[in-house]
Parts: sequence; structure tokens; C-alpha cells
Amino acid sequence: MKKILVTGGLGFIGSHTVVELQQAGYEVVIIDNLYNSKIEVLESIIAITGVKPSYSNIDLRNKIAVEDFFKNNTIEGVIHFAASKAVGESVKHPLLYYENNISTLVYLLKEMKKHKLSNFIFSSSCTVYGQADELPITENAPTKPAESPYGNTKQIGEEIIKESCKANGLKAIALRYFNPIGAHETALIGELPLGVPQNLIPFVTQTAAGIREELSVFGDDYPTKDGTAVRDYIHVVDLAKAHIAALERLLKNNNKKDFEVFNVGTGTGSSVLEVIQAFEKVSKTKLNYKIVGRRAGDITSAYADTTLAKVELGWETEKTLDEALLAAWQWQLKQ
Ligand code: UD1
Repeated sequence: MKKILVTGGLGFIGSHTVVELQQAGYEVVIIDNLYNSKIEVLESIIAITGVKPSYSNIDLRNKIAVEDFFKNNTIEGVIHFAASKAVGESVKHPLLYYENNISTLVYLLKEMKKHKLSNFIFSSSCTVYGQADELPITENAPTKPAESPYGNTKQIGEEIIKESCKANGLKAIALRYFNPIGAHETALIGELPLGVPQNLIPFVTQTAAGIREELSVFGDDYPTKDGTAVRDYIHVVDLAKAHIAALERLLKNNNKKDFEVFNVGTGTGSSVLEVIQAFEKVSKTKLNYKIVGRRAGDITSAYADTTLAKVELGWETEKTLDEALLAAWQWQLKQ
């Protein structure tokens, strides 16, 4: 059994990826400092898969602890999720974001170099494209200056990895996620936002559940079909599976370059109002919402061209927006 390190393996995307890895026959070792996750997620992973992954509570900013981990574990690949991800918080605390997202990446890559490990999957984001000039967005679209320190850490992270591939014999794939939503079909794992959700879907489900009074729709004067902003919402289980496909590409040496980038989205753009309508339909609830002004830093439209991932990774989404919204709702009802 191949042993894979998953950093941030108790988080939203990390936990779903651990489940898929275990179901695909990999041995998983998780590092997570529980900053934005809960230890109970480990029990849920065991309940879903029947397998207990190894778990270490390590803060990746602790260089010595990271060194010790690599001394004591023989692994064949790393999937690196652990990072801070709140855009607004990153604007207030940029240094925290550079430390959490960049220092930790450097420590990991140094250890991989030291131990001659070469297979690395990185959580990147479609935020690197900013407002792309052409839609759907291909991997060749130029990256735009980041709108936030968070977005900048994804761009810098990709650069650091690319240069490590050139110099250190690393093989890596950066997956540029569009908007991950949903939860596992068992409703045992899902998204656990800290405090008031900043992202659309957790705000929608919390509003429908009566935790929030009203959803604010940020802007209806965008040049889109109904005036609200358009995004590519991808079911987290589909997204998790893209990591398995990317990992296998590296393990089988099927990669064409040492550093590769793939968009991970559905290829379909949905407006905020379309999401609300779809949610009301699948949840059979009426959502309380009002239109307010635009949110600073938001772009008009982003959805993926998924051709490259289809052709090269042999991966495409299987689930619909309705399925993702229903899963998010069932998860909310369980909380
Ligand atoms: C946001 C981040 C992005 C990050 C991603 C992680 C910003 C500007 N971008 O993407 O960098 O990678 O989360 O998941 O924060 N909306 C509402 N009302 C709400 C919340 C959201 O109308 O209460 C709208 C937004 O204006 C947007 C859409 O819903 O049009 C999606 O928003 P969100 O879920 O926050 O994702 P992004 O902004 O696309």
C-alpha cells in the first residue's frame, strides 16, 4: 500500500480526499493542526471508510516537528491542503497568511528534497486568473495581480513549486479549484465554516436553517444573464477525486512536465440567483434574501474550461449542481 501524506486532511476538501484515497486503497497519514477543523472528523472518516488513517497534530510552521515527521515516516506522495483561506482575514493579517501558506510550503518542500521525495499535489485556486479576459478559462489564461494576500499566496506557492521542480527533481501538479461546495453523501463530513460564513453556499444553508436571518446577494448589476455574479460550483467529492487522478499521474510517471497545472471545475457557470433557485428546489425551502451592493474584490464571472483535465487526467465531474446543493443541505441539517 502506498503511503500518502495529506496535510490539512481534516479540513473540508482534505477530509473528502482522505476518504477517496482510502477507498482507492492508499494508506493515508494526516497532518492537521485543527486550526480550522475538528478532531471529530477523524471518527467520521473511519465511519465512512472503515479505515483509521494515521494522524499527527503538527503545525507546519514548526520546522523541527516537520523534520521529525519526515524522519519517522516513509511516504510516496504529498497532497498539501493545509493553508489559511479567508480572503478578508488575509487582507487584515497578511503576514499570518505568508507564514501559514508560504513558510509551511517551503518547509515541506525542503523535507521532500532532503528525503528525495518527488510527488506533490498543491491546492491552488482559480483566483490566480482574476477576472479572465476569456471564458471559459483555460490553463493558458494569464494570471492577474492578486486581489488579496490569500490569492497572492496561491500564485507565489505555484512559483515556488515550479522552481523546486526545476532545481530539485520535484514532480508536482497544482490543481486550480473553482468553487468547491457540497458534502459527502453520508452527511458525515462537510464544510465547517468558522464563525459567519463568507462563502455563498454555507451562508445559504445556514440561512435556510434559521441560523442567519437573511442572505445578502452581492450585486445584481453585473453584465451577466441575470445581473448576479457567475461562478463554477463543483461538488467536493468530484474535486476530491481529481486529487486521486493527479496523484496517480505522478506515481505512474504519466506526467508530461515536472510541473503541471489543471483547472478543476465543472465547466458550467451559475449565477447567484440560479444557485438560490436550485437550492430552493432541492431543499423545498424558501430562502430569505435581499439584493445589496457588490462585495469589494469580487469578479463578474469565472468558469473553467475542463478539457485539459479530461484529456490528461481522465477525470471529469460526475455530480450536478442540484446534487451538490442537496448534499450541502443534508449536511447542514445534521449540524
Ligand atoms: C472566494 C474567494 C476566493 C477563494 C474562494 C474559496 C473572494 C473575493 N474570493 O471565492 O479567492 O478561493 O472563496 O472558497 O472572497 N455571495 C453572495 N452573498 C454571500 C456570499 C457570496 O452574494 O453572502 C456571492 C459572491 O459575491 C460571489 C458568489 O456568491 O459572486 C460566490 O462567493 P464565494 O462563495 O465567497 O466565492 P468566491 O468569491 O467566488
